[in-house]
This record gives sequence, structure tokens and C-alpha cells, in this order.
Amino acid sequence: MGNKMWGGRFASAADAIMAEINASIDFDKRLYRQDIAGSKAHAAMLADCGILTREEAEKIAAGLDQVEQEIAEDRFALSRDLEDIHMNVEARLAELIGPAAGKLHTARSRNDQVATDLRLYIRDALDALAAEITRLQTALARKAEAHAGDVMPGFTHLQTAQPVTFGHHLMAYVEMFARDRGRLMDARARLNDSPLGAAALAGTSFPIDRAATASALGFDRPMANSLDAVSARDFVMETLAAGTILAVHLSRLAEEIVLWCSAEFGFATLSDRFTTGSSIMPQKRNPDAAELVRAKVGRIAGAFHALTMVMKGLPLAYSKDMQEDKEPAFEALDALALMLPAMTGMIDDLQPNTERMREAAARGYSTATDLADWLVRALGMPFREAHHVTGRIVRLAEERGLALEAVPLAEMQAIEPRITADVFNVLSVENSVASRVSFGGTAPENVRAQASAWLQRLADE
Ligand code: ARG
Repeated sequence: MGNKMWGGRFASAADAIMAEINASIDFDKRLYRQDIAGSKAHAAMLADCGILTREEAEKIAAGLDQVEQEIAEDRFALSRDLEDIHMNVEARLAELIGPAAGKLHTARSRNDQVATDLRLYIRDALDALAAEITRLQTALARKAEAHAGDVMPGFTHLQTAQPVTFGHHLMAYVEMFARDRGRLMDARARLNDSPLGAAALAGTSFPIDRAATASALGFDRPMANSLDAVSARDFVMETLAAGTILAVHLSRLAEEIVLWCSAEFGFATLSDRFTTGSSIMPQKRNPDAAELVRAKVGRIAGAFHALTMVMKGLPLAYSKDMQEDKEPAFEALDALALMLPAMTGMIDDLQPNTERMREAAARGYSTATDLADWLVRALGMPFREAHHVTGRIVRLAEERGLALEAVPLAEMQAIEPRITADVFNVLSVENSVASRVSFGGTAPENVRAQASAWLQRLADE
């Protein structure tokens, strides 16, 4: 037998492989709540506009509530023969309430229906991600506040560059994640227009009220062009693009955790809660959660790429290609929903080894820039010349196997006679970070102020 929903002009059933490639129920079943919310808003509007009777609309709404409960409790088998969530819900509704169910699809198509469902789903997912980002930022800012004055090496090219504080380093990620949150919320604001009532592509001849369904579903307004309403998937692409950037930031932090927890760095440890052992090497404590956060960026960037390729060159309006939007979107959103709380957990758990970090910060002549700056400030030397003089002092220190502050004054004076004992005040890593008071610099007082300002903002979010 042909399809119950659209089989009128078909004489025979679909080939088995056609049914298999066509069915989306295995993955779009997770839209059932959004689908039912959309249908209820649509039915109520149809009644308000005199297209359905009040009784019909009430019957439909009560039936839809029951379908929702049945799906939530896994009480009826969703059928692949009915292709997708939209037709499964409607078919079950017909079983429950009879012919009135058939009136629900008046002035609507699956094309505007699926676009509505997916916008609602992604809107919720974006809100959940934003809340997770806030939790992660809070964990970072708390740890930063506690370690605002703990010195660690700052790197460029992964070579020791200048001392910074651990708190300052963590606060860098608070800033990045704030922009990520902003990008997701921008996507949310742009996607919050309603496609419902665009029908198949051209609009409808029924006297519907699209503003009413838009507002019932929490949308800001109905989309202004019916072709655009059913064809647009930029809201998914934008979400995945912003999600990719977020995942990149998470992967950078994950990589730093992996490095910090290595024996070679020894900057931090994760407890048993966020590590695993090796089945052969008894000494091992592997930072698997960080590694997996680092790795998952591939799925998310891949999802963005996959959907971009689906949409590229598609003529207006709906094409079945667009059914391929859901799996990448769900996969990416699921991955982010795991990565964010895993990262928050790791940040809470992470114990910095402040001794080790301080020692590492003092190695590698990390205060050479402070020495050059002192020459500029105390002697009025041009910076380029100061750089050169400092370079000679560093070479001397290196030849003697000494830290900069251990080079005797007389030997520094042999290179630049005007150097005084005052120079030793700037050569320690503590003095170096304390001096970086410029706006956005690593001075502990700056970091403390930034962390506490952020903690206040985050508490209000
Ligand atoms: N399952 C479809 C999708 O996800 C729903 C829309 C189908 N529309 C259609 N005219 N066949 O895209």
C-alpha cells in the first residue's frame, strides 16, 4: 500500500531502499517536543481565525498532549514507513482523535513545519550551551582569583618569554569564552524568526495569523518571505560556525592542560576524577578528558563543513537535501554539551603546582625584557640599544650558568658601566609581574580586579 499521508497519486509502495534512504525518523524523533509545540500553536491559531472549530482545535491539542506523553515514555513505536517525526505524530493523532487530526495540516506544510521545529530545538540548545559557558567562565575566574599572584612562564613559540601569573592565563580564556557566548547569542537572536505559515513555499490562501503563531512559540516575528522561510538553513550554519570557534578555544585550553600535566612541565595535576590509568604502565595518570575535548573539535568543524556542502548551490525552495541538516547539527551540539561541563569539571579539579611554575618562570632569562626596560628608564638608553646590551648580559649569564639576578654587578658594569645595584629590583619574576600594571597586563592587582569583576557579571547572567 502507498503512503497514508501523501499516497493518493501513487499506485504502489516505495522500494525498500527508497524507504530506507528517505526515512529521517531515527534522528528527527528528538524534535518531537518542538513539533508538538508548533502543531498546538498552529491549531489554536487556525481556530482563532475561524478555519477550525474550537472543538476541533481542543481535540487536536488534547490529542497532541497525549502523543507527547506517549513518546516521552517510549510507549509507541515510531514507524519508518511514516518517514519522519511530523508524520508519525500526525498519524498517531489520527488514531487517537479520528478525522479532526487531518485538519491540523491546513495552511501548513512539512517544509515550514520542519524549519520551525529545528529553530525551536536549536534555540533551546543555544540557551543550554550559554549556561554551560557561564559555568565554565565562573570556574575559570574563581581559580584565577585564587592564583592571581602565582607566577608562571608566559610563552611565545612555546619558548619561555616573560613571566605572567596563572590567574592571568586563566582569565584569557574567560575573555575568549565571553566572545563565544556572544557569538552563540547573536545566532540565537537572528534565528528567532518564525517560518510557520510559509506553508510549502508560497504562503497560503487561508486567512491565517502568522504573527500569532510566532508569538505563541516565543519567536520575535514571522519571517517576511515564504521562500526564504522554508529554504533558510543559515541559522544552523551560523550555530555550527560559532560552535566550531568555541570548540577551537576549548581544544586550546585542553591542550594546555595536557601539557601542564606532563612530567616535563609538571605545572599542574588532575585528580583521579579526571584521569585514567594505563593497563600496562602502572605509573601513568592520563588526562583523557582533556584529550577528548581537544579531539572533538573535529566533529564540530566537520558538521559545519558537511552542512555547508549540503546547502551549497541548492536552488530555492525546499529540497530533500535539507533533511541532511539535522544529524550534523545534533552531533555538534551533543559534543559541545559534553565538552563544556567536562572542561568545567577539569578546571575545578586542576591543582596548579605553583612552586614548579615559579621555578620554570625564572628559568630561560624570562626577565631579560625587564632588564632592557630598566636601561631605558634609568639611563635614557634607546630601546634598541638596551636590547643589545641586555643580550650581551644574557650571553654572559648563559656562559656562566647563572640566572640573570645572580650575575655580579661588576660584570654587568663591564658591559655597561652606568648600571647600578638598583637593577636587581627588576630582575625577579615577582617584580616583573608586579610591574605589568598597564591596562590588561599581568600584574596580580589587575588580575584580581578582573577576576572579581567577571565573577560579579557572571553571577548576574
Ligand atoms: N523530514 C523532512 C526534513 O527533515 C521534513 C520535510 C519534508 N518535506 C517534504 N516536502 N518532503 O527535511
